[in-house]
Amino acid sequence: MNWGLEVSMTEKEISLNRGLQGVYLDRTQTTFIDGKNGVLEYSGYNIHDLAENSNFEETSYLLMYGKLPNKKQLEVFDKSLKNARKLPEKIYDVIEIVKDSHPMDVLRTAISTLSSFDEDREDFSEEAIIRKGIKLTSQVPMIVMAHYRMRKGLDPIEPSKTLAHASNFLYMLEGEEPTKDTARLMDIDFVVHADHGCNASAFTTRVVTGTNADFYGAITAGIAALSGPSHGGAAEGVMELARDVGKADNAANHVKKLLSNRERVMGFGHRVYKSADPRAKHLKEGVKKLSKEKGQTEWYDILLAVQEAMRPYARRGIHANVDFFAGAVYYLIGIPKDLFVPIFAVGRIPGWTIQILEQMRHNILIRPLLHYTGSREKLYVSIDKRD
Ligand SMILES: CC(C)(COP(=O)(O)OP(=O)(O)OC[C@H]1O[C@@H](n2cnc3c(N)ncnc32)[C@H](O)[C@@H]1OP(=O)(O)O)[C@@H](O)C(=O)NCCC(=O)NCCS
Repeated sequence: MNWGLEVSMTEKEISLNRGLQGVYLDRTQTTFIDGKNGVLEYSGYNIHDLAENSNFEETSYLLMYGKLPNKKQLEVFDKSLKNARKLPEKIYDVIEIVKDSHPMDVLRTAISTLSSFDEDREDFSEEAIIRKGIKLTSQVPMIVMAHYRMRKGLDPIEPSKTLAHASNFLYMLEGEEPTKDTARLMDIDFVVHADHGCNASAFTTRVVTGTNADFYGAITAGIAALSGPSHGGAAEGVMELARDVGKADNAANHVKKLLSNRERVMGFGHRVYKSADPRAKHLKEGVKKLSKEKGQTEWYDILLAVQEAMRPYARRGIHANVDFFAGAVYYLIGIPKDLFVPIFAVGRIPGWTIQILEQMRHNILIRPLLHYTGSREKLYVSIDKRD
């Protein structure tokens, strides 16, 4: 094994994997991804099966406990989620102070602050981590929506005591219960976003957990990683792209222009999926249905035309990813653009929770090496003798 002590090794002698591409970090029992064939499974259950038959509450249980719940277990779990729809009063003060920042920055700050109010803060037991995961799963939507209201000078809407997770999320936007179809689409969106292996944000939560830091520190760091446009920020970019395209007929030219300027087409490409992203299908169907319902079919047409223009790139493994259609779903529901990434975080808390727990179960400090390519053994030159 190379322990990093062979300081003069060449790049040929070491195994250098920029971006840790293709490197297995550990074992997992949670999420299986076959990027070549476009397969995603949570605890052995195919994402298509879950998107069609499960819901966010049940899928969260599946991720956190590694098995589907029976009726009683689901009832208890659902009750815990609903009971956790509370935020300490002072979190609203924190949101007020930072309310002019991007919602992801507000969310990061609020989650970091939540640790001060958790009496289980010092408890690293499995039960405590699950408890914190459940609590945060319910609190993150509240933070996102409270900020949305407060920056407009409005009071946050009290969460419902009875609505399901996805419906309650949308209810806290304007105080109106969503239609059954819209709530179901949001629910599917949360299901397909609930976990995704060792992507940048999950990896970040594992790195922080690897140092034995606490749950809130790990999630706060995960939120920071998620906020970048190469990760969670793409959905926001997709609606900008759709707006720039303007109408379906312009898509081919616009895409050509972007590619000839070596710009990225947002919502395309994936580090792991080199065939179709299996999550995209469910949101694509949702956009189709919702855009008809809202009488705004132009967005679906534009996205289809962009997808068509990108077809030649499928040969290179560049396909539409989950964010390509997610942005349009949120837009059609009436959610402002800068909440698109926070929505990703709303769905991802169960996934991060189990990844933190898995990391804790066999904890190891995550500490890769950097191959030094600068000059060495220079002699120190006093400042008055430097050029
Ligand atoms: C997600 C992403 C960072 C993954 O990238 P990756 O696996 O590291 O692949 P690379 O960035 O090395 O790209 C490989 C090649 O494909 C091209 N490519 C990848 N995604 C592309 C995109 N969205 N538009 C145009 N070209 C793209 C790159 O230009 C590169 O081409 P080159 O070999 O000629 O230089 C990348 O596809 C991307 O930036 N996508 C747009 C943002 C996005 O949708 N993110 C959400 C991911 S769920």
